[in-house]
Amino acid sequence: MVERLAVHWGADVSLARRAAWLHDITKEMPYEEQLQLIDEHGIILTGTQRSKKIIHAFSGSVLAWRKFDEPEEVCGAIRWHTTARRGMTLLEKIIWLADLTEEGRDFSGVSKIRDLAFKSLTDALIMGFDTTLSVLISRGSEIDANMIEARNFEIAGKLKGTEDEKNRFKQ
Ligand SMILES: [Fe+2]
Repeated sequence: MVERLAVHWGADVSLARRAAWLHDITKEMPYEEQLQLIDEHGIILTGTQRSKKIIHAFSGSVLAWRKFDEPEEVCGAIRWHTTARRGMTLLEKIIWLADLTEEGRDFSGVSKIRDLAFKSLTDALIMGFDTTLSVLISRGSEIDANMIEARNFEIAGKLKGTEDEKNRFKQ
């Protein structure tokens, strides 16, 4: 999925491959070690980001940089692969979507998101955010503010596009 998406959207395939390979690199690392890595790097996490499901994205980005000397694009894609963020780069979008829809995921709508990812990254992201947020809400889980901002950003971009289209036809 990652490589196909990278080729399809013109992203750097080797960086995409590296980010995909490394994105969960600290998932099995003891929690305290992850916290230490992040602290040493000067990243300040919110309470929500300190949750076990999210923290590995932050610690993973630090380790990818320290241990493998990965470039900023790869570290960013690792850092935002769980929460997403406002104004993601192309590589960050691809890694977020590929992680959400990776083989073995069978939540309702997953195949629609996979298809959409090759048609419109914006639409795929919005559907991905909506699906993820519904699941988090139904479980009574916390929601990282970055995901809300990421969703607002993509929706605003889409509306702006629509507005521009409308204006274009008025002239
Ligand atoms: Fe992960």
